[in-house]
Amino acid sequence: MRLHVADHPLITHKLTVLRDKATPSPVFRQLTEELMTLLAYEATRNVRVEPVTIDTPVTQTKGVRIADPKPLVVPILRAGLGMLEGMTKLVPTAEVGFLGIVRNEETLLPTTYAERLPDDLSDRQCFVLDPMLATGGSLAAAIKYLFDRGATEVTAVCLLGTPEGVHAIESLVGDRDITLVLGALDEGLNEHGYIVPGLGDAGDRLYGTV
Ligand code: PRP
Ligand code: URA
Repeated sequence: MRLHVADHPLITHKLTVLRDKATPSPVFRQLTEELMTLLAYEATRNVRVEPVTIDTPVTQTKGVRIADPKPLVVPILRAGLGMLEGMTKLVPTAEVGFLGIVRNEETLLPTTYAERLPDDLSDRQCFVLDPMLATGGSLAAAIKYLFDRGATEVTAVCLLGTPEGVHAIESLVGDRDITLVLGALDEGLNEHGYIVPGLGDAGDRLYGTV
Protein backbone atom coordinates (compact mmCIF):
# COMPACT_ATOMS: atom_id res chain seq x y z
CA MET A 1 0.00 0.00 0.00
CA ARG A 2 1.19 3.50 -0.74
CA LEU A 3 0.56 5.95 2.10
CA HIS A 4 0.85 9.68 1.57
CA VAL A 5 0.38 12.05 4.51
CA ALA A 6 0.13 15.68 3.39
CA ASP A 7 2.85 18.01 4.51
CA HIS A 8 1.85 21.48 3.38
CA PRO A 9 1.26 24.56 5.54
CA LEU A 10 -1.94 25.49 3.72
CA ILE A 11 -3.43 22.05 4.39
CA THR A 12 -2.37 22.16 8.05
CA HIS A 13 -3.82 25.66 8.39
CA LYS A 14 -7.18 24.65 6.93
CA LEU A 15 -7.26 21.47 9.02
CA THR A 16 -6.63 23.52 12.16
CA VAL A 17 -9.71 25.67 11.45
CA LEU A 18 -11.70 22.53 10.64
CA ARG A 19 -10.74 20.92 13.96
CA ASP A 20 -11.80 23.97 15.97
CA LYS A 21 -15.15 23.25 17.62
CA ALA A 22 -16.13 26.91 17.17
CA THR A 23 -16.05 26.58 13.37
CA PRO A 24 -19.68 26.69 12.13
CA SER A 25 -21.14 24.28 9.54
CA PRO A 26 -20.99 26.62 6.50
CA VAL A 27 -17.26 27.23 7.06
CA PHE A 28 -16.70 23.54 7.84
CA ARG A 29 -18.34 22.57 4.53
CA GLN A 30 -16.31 25.10 2.57
CA LEU A 31 -13.03 23.94 4.14
CA THR A 32 -13.84 20.27 3.59
CA GLU A 33 -14.29 20.98 -0.11
CA GLU A 34 -11.12 23.07 -0.34
CA LEU A 35 -9.05 20.46 1.50
CA MET A 36 -10.31 17.78 -0.87
CA THR A 37 -9.18 19.82 -3.87
CA LEU A 38 -5.73 20.22 -2.34
CA LEU A 39 -5.48 16.50 -1.55
CA ALA A 40 -6.82 15.58 -5.01
CA TYR A 41 -3.63 16.92 -6.51
CA GLU A 42 -1.69 14.14 -4.77
CA ALA A 43 -4.43 11.50 -5.07
CA THR A 44 -4.60 11.85 -8.86
CA ARG A 45 -0.84 11.72 -9.38
CA ASN A 46 -1.20 8.40 -11.24
CA VAL A 47 -4.49 9.07 -13.00
CA ARG A 48 -4.42 7.36 -16.39
CA VAL A 49 -3.93 9.62 -19.38
CA GLU A 50 -3.52 9.01 -23.10
CA PRO A 51 -1.57 10.97 -25.69
CA VAL A 52 -3.38 13.56 -27.76
CA THR A 53 -2.28 15.91 -30.50
CA ILE A 54 -3.70 19.43 -30.53
CA ASP A 55 -3.20 22.70 -32.42
CA THR A 56 -2.16 25.69 -30.38
CA PRO A 57 -2.59 29.10 -32.07
CA VAL A 58 1.10 28.75 -32.96
CA THR A 59 1.76 25.10 -33.86
CA GLN A 60 0.74 21.50 -33.44
CA THR A 61 1.88 19.83 -30.22
CA LYS A 62 1.42 16.65 -28.22
CA GLY A 63 -0.28 16.55 -24.84
CA VAL A 64 -2.40 14.16 -22.79
CA ARG A 65 -6.02 13.77 -21.79
CA ILE A 66 -7.68 11.63 -19.14
CA ALA A 67 -8.08 8.15 -20.59
CA ASP A 68 -11.21 5.98 -20.85
CA PRO A 69 -12.70 4.42 -18.83
CA LYS A 70 -13.01 7.60 -16.84
CA PRO A 71 -12.06 7.57 -13.15
CA LEU A 72 -14.85 6.68 -10.74
CA VAL A 73 -15.23 8.84 -7.63
CA VAL A 74 -17.09 7.21 -4.73
CA PRO A 75 -17.98 9.40 -1.74
CA ILE A 76 -19.02 7.39 1.33
CA LEU A 77 -22.35 8.78 2.55
CA ARG A 78 -22.86 10.82 4.47
CA ALA A 79 -19.70 12.70 5.36
CA GLY A 80 -17.87 11.82 2.10
CA LEU A 81 -20.44 13.90 0.21
CA GLY A 82 -18.81 17.00 1.65
CA MET A 83 -15.67 16.15 -0.32
CA LEU A 84 -17.31 15.40 -3.67
CA GLU A 85 -17.33 18.89 -5.19
CA GLY A 86 -13.73 19.40 -4.21
CA MET A 87 -12.77 16.35 -6.26
CA THR A 88 -15.03 16.81 -9.29
CA LYS A 89 -13.84 20.41 -9.62
CA LEU A 90 -10.40 19.04 -10.36
CA VAL A 91 -11.53 16.02 -12.43
CA PRO A 92 -14.80 17.15 -14.02
CA THR A 93 -14.99 14.18 -16.42
CA ALA A 94 -14.94 11.63 -13.60
CA GLU A 95 -18.06 9.55 -13.03
CA VAL A 96 -19.57 9.35 -9.56
CA GLY A 97 -20.87 6.30 -7.69
CA PHE A 98 -22.24 6.20 -4.15
CA LEU A 99 -21.84 3.98 -1.12
CA GLY A 100 -23.81 4.58 2.07
CA ILE A 101 -22.04 3.18 5.10
CA VAL A 102 -22.78 3.93 8.73
CA ARG A 103 -20.80 2.88 11.77
CA ASN A 104 -22.63 1.52 14.80
CA GLU A 105 -21.52 3.87 17.56
CA GLU A 106 -21.48 1.06 20.16
CA THR A 107 -19.90 -1.87 18.30
CA LEU A 108 -18.00 0.46 15.89
CA LEU A 109 -18.89 -2.00 13.10
CA PRO A 110 -19.96 -0.63 9.70
CA THR A 111 -23.21 -1.41 7.87
CA THR A 112 -23.68 -0.72 4.16
CA TYR A 113 -27.17 0.71 3.59
CA ALA A 114 -26.96 2.12 0.06
CA GLU A 115 -25.09 1.43 -3.14
CA ARG A 116 -25.21 2.99 -6.61
CA LEU A 117 -22.22 1.87 -8.62
CA PRO A 118 -21.56 0.48 -12.10
CA ASP A 119 -21.88 -3.35 -12.03
CA ASP A 120 -18.50 -3.88 -13.57
CA LEU A 121 -15.56 -1.90 -12.25
CA SER A 122 -12.84 -3.82 -14.07
CA ASP A 123 -10.10 -1.56 -15.29
CA ARG A 124 -11.55 1.43 -13.40
CA GLN A 125 -9.41 3.71 -11.31
CA CYS A 126 -11.56 4.31 -8.21
CA PHE A 127 -11.25 7.20 -5.76
CA VAL A 128 -13.02 6.73 -2.42
CA LEU A 129 -13.74 9.85 -0.37
CA ASP A 130 -14.37 9.87 3.37
CA PRO A 131 -13.13 12.59 5.73
CA MET A 132 -12.52 10.20 8.66
CA LEU A 133 -10.42 7.04 8.88
CA ALA A 134 -10.94 6.02 12.52
CA THR A 135 -10.97 2.24 13.20
CA GLY A 136 -10.85 1.77 9.41
CA GLY A 137 -13.95 -0.46 9.38
CA SER A 138 -15.99 1.78 7.06
CA LEU A 139 -13.23 2.47 4.55
CA ALA A 140 -12.17 -1.19 4.53
CA ALA A 141 -15.77 -2.22 3.76
CA ALA A 142 -15.92 0.32 0.91
CA ILE A 143 -12.61 -0.77 -0.58
CA LYS A 144 -13.58 -4.46 -0.38
CA TYR A 145 -16.86 -3.66 -2.11
CA LEU A 146 -15.04 -2.02 -5.02
CA PHE A 147 -12.54 -4.86 -5.42
CA ASP A 148 -15.39 -7.40 -5.31
CA ARG A 149 -16.91 -5.51 -8.27
CA GLY A 150 -13.68 -5.90 -10.25
CA ALA A 151 -11.76 -2.70 -9.45
CA THR A 152 -8.01 -3.14 -9.77
CA GLU A 153 -6.86 0.13 -8.29
CA VAL A 154 -8.33 2.11 -5.39
CA THR A 155 -7.13 5.42 -3.99
CA ALA A 156 -8.77 6.52 -0.75
CA VAL A 157 -8.67 10.14 0.41
CA CYS A 158 -9.35 11.03 4.06
CA LEU A 159 -8.86 14.35 5.82
CA LEU A 160 -7.81 12.67 9.09
CA GLY A 161 -6.55 9.16 9.81
CA THR A 162 -5.21 7.12 12.71
CA PRO A 163 -2.47 4.49 12.92
CA GLU A 164 -5.23 1.92 13.71
CA GLY A 165 -7.13 2.89 10.55
CA VAL A 166 -4.02 2.78 8.38
CA HIS A 167 -3.27 -0.69 9.76
CA ALA A 168 -6.80 -1.89 8.95
CA ILE A 169 -6.39 -0.80 5.32
CA GLU A 170 -2.89 -2.28 5.11
CA SER A 171 -4.19 -5.65 6.22
CA LEU A 172 -6.56 -5.67 3.19
CA VAL A 173 -3.89 -5.23 0.63
CA GLY A 174 -2.57 -8.64 -0.51
CA ASP A 175 -1.89 -8.13 -4.21
CA ARG A 176 -4.38 -5.26 -4.43
CA ASP A 177 -3.27 -1.84 -5.55
CA ILE A 178 -4.30 0.58 -2.78
CA THR A 179 -3.17 4.14 -2.16
CA LEU A 180 -4.15 6.09 0.93
CA VAL A 181 -3.89 9.88 0.96
CA LEU A 182 -4.37 11.60 4.33
CA GLY A 183 -4.54 15.27 5.24
CA ALA A 184 -3.02 14.36 8.64
CA LEU A 185 -2.20 11.27 10.66
CA ASP A 186 -3.60 11.83 14.16
CA GLU A 187 -2.58 10.20 17.46
CA GLY A 188 -5.23 7.49 17.68
CA LEU A 189 -8.70 6.70 18.99
CA ASN A 190 -10.41 7.50 22.28
CA GLU A 191 -12.58 5.01 24.19
CA HIS A 192 -15.58 5.88 22.00
CA GLY A 193 -13.71 5.22 18.75
CA TYR A 194 -13.32 8.92 17.94
CA ILE A 195 -10.15 10.27 16.40
CA VAL A 196 -7.87 12.19 18.81
CA PRO A 197 -7.35 15.12 18.49
CA GLY A 198 -9.68 14.77 15.49
CA LEU A 199 -12.54 17.12 14.71
CA GLY A 200 -15.53 15.33 16.25
CA ASP A 201 -18.29 13.78 14.16
CA ALA A 202 -17.65 14.86 10.57
CA GLY A 203 -21.18 14.07 9.33
CA ASP A 204 -22.78 16.05 12.16
CA ARG A 205 -20.48 19.00 11.67
CA LEU A 206 -21.23 19.05 7.94
CA TYR A 207 -24.96 18.37 8.03
CA GLY A 208 -26.22 18.53 11.62
CA THR A 209 -27.49 15.74 13.88
CA VAL A 210 -30.27 14.04 11.90
C1 PRP B 1 -17.98 8.34 9.96
C2 PRP B 1 -16.94 8.69 8.92
C3 PRP B 1 -16.51 7.33 8.44
C4 PRP B 1 -16.59 6.49 9.68
C5 PRP B 1 -15.21 6.31 10.23
O1 PRP B 1 -19.20 8.05 9.37
O2 PRP B 1 -17.45 9.54 7.91
O3 PRP B 1 -17.34 6.80 7.41
O4 PRP B 1 -17.39 7.22 10.62
O5 PRP B 1 -15.19 5.41 11.28
P1 PRP B 1 -14.44 4.01 11.18
O6 PRP B 1 -13.12 4.22 10.51
O7 PRP B 1 -14.28 3.60 12.62
O8 PRP B 1 -15.32 3.05 10.42
P2 PRP B 1 -20.53 7.74 10.22
O9 PRP B 1 -20.64 6.26 10.47
O10 PRP B 1 -20.55 8.62 11.42
O11 PRP B 1 -21.67 8.09 9.22
P3 PRP B 1 -22.08 9.52 8.58
O12 PRP B 1 -21.04 9.85 7.56
O13 PRP B 1 -23.42 9.23 7.98
O14 PRP B 1 -22.16 10.55 9.67
N1 URA C 1 -16.36 9.26 12.67
C1 URA C 1 -16.27 10.61 12.81
O1 URA C 1 -17.04 11.36 12.18
N2 URA C 1 -15.33 11.12 13.65
C2 URA C 1 -14.47 10.34 14.32
O2 URA C 1 -13.63 10.87 15.05
C3 URA C 1 -14.58 8.94 14.17
C4 URA C 1 -15.52 8.44 13.33
